[in-house]
Amino acid sequence: MKLPHPASLTTRLGLLFALIATLTFAGVGTYLYQSLTSQLESHDDLELIGKIALIRHFLLETSSVKEIQDDPHRFLDVAAVHDGLIIILKSADGNILMQNHSDHGALSTLPVAAANQTPGKASLGRWTLNPGLSARTVSAWGVLGNTHEQVQIIVARTDSDRMALLRAHRNKVFAAVFFGALLAALSGYIVVRQGLRPIRAIAKQAQSITAQRLEMRLDVTAAPKELQMLVLAFNDMLDRLHRSFQRLSQFSADLAHDLRTPINNLMVQTQVALSQPRSIEDYQSLLASNEEEYERLARMVENMLFLARADHANFVLNKQRLDPYNELQHIADYFEGIAEDAQVQLAVDARGSLEADPILFRRAVNNLVANAIRYTPKGGVVRLATQPMQEGMAITVTNPGIGITPKHIPLIFDRFYRGDDARSDSASSTGLGLAIVQSIMMLHGGRAEVESAPDAMTTFRLVFPSSS
Ligand SMILES: Nc1ncnc2c1ncn2[C@@H]1O[C@H](COP(=O)(O)OP(=O)(O)O)[C@@H](O)[C@H]1O
Ligand SMILES: [Mg+2]
Repeated sequence: MKLPHPASLTTRLGLLFALIATLTFAGVGTYLYQSLTSQLESHDDLELIGKIALIRHFLLETSSVKEIQDDPHRFLDVAAVHDGLIIILKSADGNILMQNHSDHGALSTLPVAAANQTPGKASLGRWTLNPGLSARTVSAWGVLGNTHEQVQIIVARTDSDRMALLRAHRNKVFAAVFFGALLAALSGYIVVRQGLRPIRAIAKQAQSITAQRLEMRLDVTAAPKELQMLVLAFNDMLDRLHRSFQRLSQFSADLAHDLRTPINNLMVQTQVALSQPRSIEDYQSLLASNEEEYERLARMVENMLFLARADHANFVLNKQRLDPYNELQHIADYFEGIAEDAQVQLAVDARGSLEADPILFRRAVNNLVANAIRYTPKGGVVRLATQPMQEGMAITVTNPGIGITPKHIPLIFDRFYRGDDARSDSASSTGLGLAIVQSIMMLHGGRAEVESAPDAMTTFRLVFPSSS
């Protein structure tokens, strides 16, 4: 079979894996990058504070400002100045005494730590020397040993080497994220493919089920836990299909059988009549007897057609609000003659109202009443009543009699199902009456049910839901 082309689950999960891996790696990478950045920064800050201490010590051993101005290199040597380090000394009145870097734009405006203080957070910070060059910087007062003159010390460390280091690190993180995601996508794809194997196995099993092998079921024990529900549901569906299929086969067999009997009767009677010359009266009685069979056939075909139409989803109901008392009384009047012949009484006890298609309502109740009269012994009473229910209104038809044995109860609503005694009475019984009742109730969104105790009371109940 040609499959449509939706995104494959494997690809989708593989990509999702890759996305999750990318986000996770990127998050972890960013975190590590940030912590490396701040660690390097605080490392630099410690170096700056160390330089301040060193320079203060040197100043204490220096007798005058002039000494610094005269030989700045000696000073720089002592301070172990390297490439990225900028040192500026200013006198208390703001004159620059010494600097190893002149291209520094505006000087940092950070607070200056007092001479007797180790510089803290407040005097540490970033200083943009000029566009493209920034530095960590700290500033503190130092004191000359001899004159006790105050000198401002500014130490800065340019960021460029740190930045280069971080850049290299960042590139490594990018590469790791990229390859990590690729690896995750690939392994995700493989893992998902592997994980979906049971589905393919189930599909293969399902493929081998055909109409001739509807009794086959998928193997629940072989399915993984997550798929067991699906497999069970599928097996349930097969059960239902199997039953429907069997019923359908049974239905065609019954239909053929039920059509054969009247047609055979017609054929045999006609053949016998034609085998020798007959009187007009003989022909007339033959035709009269044939008419009965034709009526039976016509009724059967009409019932079949009704059931076929009711099976269609587009059957239109003409729902109306009905007064059950009027309706049941009307039906009782209609059956009066038949009931009298059978020496059975009809009693109506109804109130309330319900919503139904009037023609179908009458047809359903008629079928029940016809059955009830047939199975009620002489002198019995068939009761037609209403029964308010939670979901709406029910009509009940109750009769005394032989009842229905429990094992037959699930079958009596099936098409062509007839009790053994009804089967012999083939002129009036087609076995479609209750099937039609059932169909009508389905059309109304309601249900038909029966309660029966053998040799006691049988009650058929039609539940019409109230439209909310
Ligand atoms: N009131 C009843 N009491 C006992 N059995 C009944 C009653 N109504 C129906 N049945 C049983 O249900 C079967 C199916 O009924 P139905 O579908 O109306 O077919 P039919 O009336 O043509 O036999 C009947 O053959 C009979 O065995
Ligand atoms: Mg019937």
